[in-house]
Amino acid sequence: MVRPLKEILKEELGNEASRAYGSFDLIGDLAIIRVPDGFQDKLEIVGNALMKLNKSIHGVWAQVGPVEGDYRIRKLMHVAGEERSVTVYRESGCRFELDITAVYFSPRLAHERLRIAQLVSDGETVFNMFAGIGTFSIIIAKRKRVIVHSSEINPAAYQYMARNIELNKVKERVIPYLRDACDVSAQLHGKVDRVLMPLPEKALEFFSCALRSLRSSGWIHVYMHVPYLKGESAADAAAKSSASITSGKVVNTIIVREVGPRLLQVVHDVVI
Ligand SMILES: C[S@@+](CC[C@H](N)C(=O)[O-])C[C@H]1O[C@@H](n2cnc3c(N)ncnc32)[C@H](O)[C@@H]1O
Repeated sequence: MVRPLKEILKEELGNEASRAYGSFDLIGDLAIIRVPDGFQDKLEIVGNALMKLNKSIHGVWAQVGPVEGDYRIRKLMHVAGEERSVTVYRESGCRFELDITAVYFSPRLAHERLRIAQLVSDGETVFNMFAGIGTFSIIIAKRKRVIVHSSEINPAAYQYMARNIELNKVKERVIPYLRDACDVSAQLHGKVDRVLMPLPEKALEFFSCALRSLRSSGWIHVYMHVPYLKGESAADAAAKSSASITSGKVVNTIIVREVGPRLLQVVHDVVI
């Protein structure tokens, strides 16, 4: 996709085309592009070029600010095509309706969500502390006979999670809560086999709440952001970050993706 997009852009932008990002997020029929400095007035051209290349894209949005706030929402601006922010995204045989301007969502975690679903065994009680629109929870519940307690504090994300539970017919397996994860962990005290903590900015802060929800043994999947310095390898930085987990044993550390310049998203699989 990189070469053809830049080639099309070259017709309109000349040499400046080389500054455009070749990659983008595709969520349902909406694309999200990133904006190089000084490119703001060319976004419509990029958006139209993308739709020309990929006929299944019906609307293009640009990310104009970082992911921020308690709800982890990215600031988006419509640049081309239909001015609609609600779409249906498909992953691992499931369908997810969402509003890209109102909830956190990244298609780049698809591989990780499937990895976790494959680790879960029938009969487990799972607690997804930061459930978003229910992606991890529903993919797990579609594949395994489990109960997945799923807490979320963003009302819009909670509404979409409830809708997606219906869409994917997992009402008996996924229990949504519009409540703080720690609050729900108190209710689940000692009843959970596996905890997911997909909120890298706060995973360590909530770790004691995750522990409280677990039975005497179980698993916690801790997502973290890990910077790495010049001269340091990403793998070393990821491995070193496991030292911040002071309970249980880290049996596996994986680099999920690069989320910024010299910044990794890492997951530690911790057995308690
Ligand atoms: C990175 S997103 C989760 C993405 C989701 N796991 C997925 O794969 O699509 C983190 C979510 O945690 C929610 N959140 C933040 N603080 C929370 C809290 N204290 N309790 C429950 N949910 C929280 C945010 O609103 C956001 O939707």
